[in-house]
Amino acid sequence: MSISKRAQIIPESITLKLNTLAGKLKDEGREVFNLTAGQLPCFPPDAFIEDLYKVAKETKSFQYSPVKGTEELRKNFTNYLEQTRGINIKDTHDSLVGNGGKAVLTNIISSIVDPGDEVILFAPYWISYPHMVGLCEGTLVMVGTGRQKFVPDLKQLEEKITKKTKVIILNSPSNPSGIYLSDEWMREFAVILKKHPNILVISDEIYYELAYDGKKPKYYYQFDKSLLAQTFIVHGISKSLACTGLRIGWCVGPKEYINAIGRLQGHIASGANSLTQEALKNYNLFNTENFLRPMLDTLRENAGILKSELHKRNLGNIWYEINSAFYFMLNLKELPYFKKNSCSCSCSNTDQSFEMCKKLMEETGVVIVPSSDFGIDNHARISMVLPAAKFQIAVAKILDFFTR
Ligand SMILES: Cc1ncc(COP(=O)(O)O)c(C=O)c1O
Repeated sequence: MSISKRAQIIPESITLKLNTLAGKLKDEGREVFNLTAGQLPCFPPDAFIEDLYKVAKETKSFQYSPVKGTEELRKNFTNYLEQTRGINIKDTHDSLVGNGGKAVLTNIISSIVDPGDEVILFAPYWISYPHMVGLCEGTLVMVGTGRQKFVPDLKQLEEKITKKTKVIILNSPSNPSGIYLSDEWMREFAVILKKHPNILVISDEIYYELAYDGKKPKYYYQFDKSLLAQTFIVHGISKSLACTGLRIGWCVGPKEYINAIGRLQGHIASGANSLTQEALKNYNLFNTENFLRPMLDTLRENAGILKSELHKRNLGNIWYEINSAFYFMLNLKELPYFKKNSCSCSCSNTDQSFEMCKKLMEETGVVIVPSSDFGIDNHARISMVLPAAKFQIAVAKILDFFTR
């Protein structure tokens, strides 16, 4: 057997590893609090589910769908983006529907990155980006955060841009930090980008609707519309419509690129699921906000619980204001347990988040995600989608464990 080098370098997912161990605990009859979820625990909107049934019953075709997605759905998506972002892209950009945001991102990256091209990621980043870039043999360039927690340092960004920089991947609201970037940050980013018209930006906006601070995230291209010429916007229904299993993602980008991405998608996957596209065509995307309201209330409440539990234990210093997506990054280094138990020898094991999260799970039954896959050491991602009462119990268990 000879596995390709490309596949060999992809490691086992740490989240899956912990989830398997958690499964074993459950089988032993232990109570498990799973705070690893990157998805909403509810059903999609009723109207959409009803349409799915109807379409499945009444369809006259189970054949291939158009490679780039059905015309009407693509129009709906473009219209939704134009309205929600206040932009005008019909004449310059095209859209493409794919088998989930992941597939769309992979197809974009595969269509624009050649071996040796530099791709800038802001750490902490979503775990799949490096692998997508790695498959194309692109070179990863990491930009860390500045003084403000998890806000990418724009000075560092400027220093890291070279002639080889092909793409910057931006993800706001962010998985794993749970924040979206401020208008000021986006304005400054726009100024930098303006100096580099050859750099493309993939703006992954899959959590756009999941801001729970009453505001809407803004993007650099809203401050300088000319930057749309170098922009791909990626979105999907997994997070905002609670249907990760239905696998629909979409993007808009400059027309010539979307044609190339379509050609690639045609050979790799063909068009996305025809029944889901048909049902989605009838769904009013502007109702997403109403649908999400109860979930946003839960996220806001859980953020409050986390903040107050940290303060109760004199750990206010590791709190930072989260406002979107499902996540909070717990800084393990600042916790008493870490200070007492971390490996202090001169070995190269600087990140101990996996060991710490494993120990937490074995002793308390609470599962959270170690940070190494997100490009940052000694943190852990807490997902906040559990109902508030259960979330509070889980948070108390985490903090009691790490403060003893
Ligand atoms: C930041 C980010 N982008 C894209 C995706 C892909 O979502 P999907 O492939 O389910 O549409 C995810 C999923 O976790 C994500 O967190």
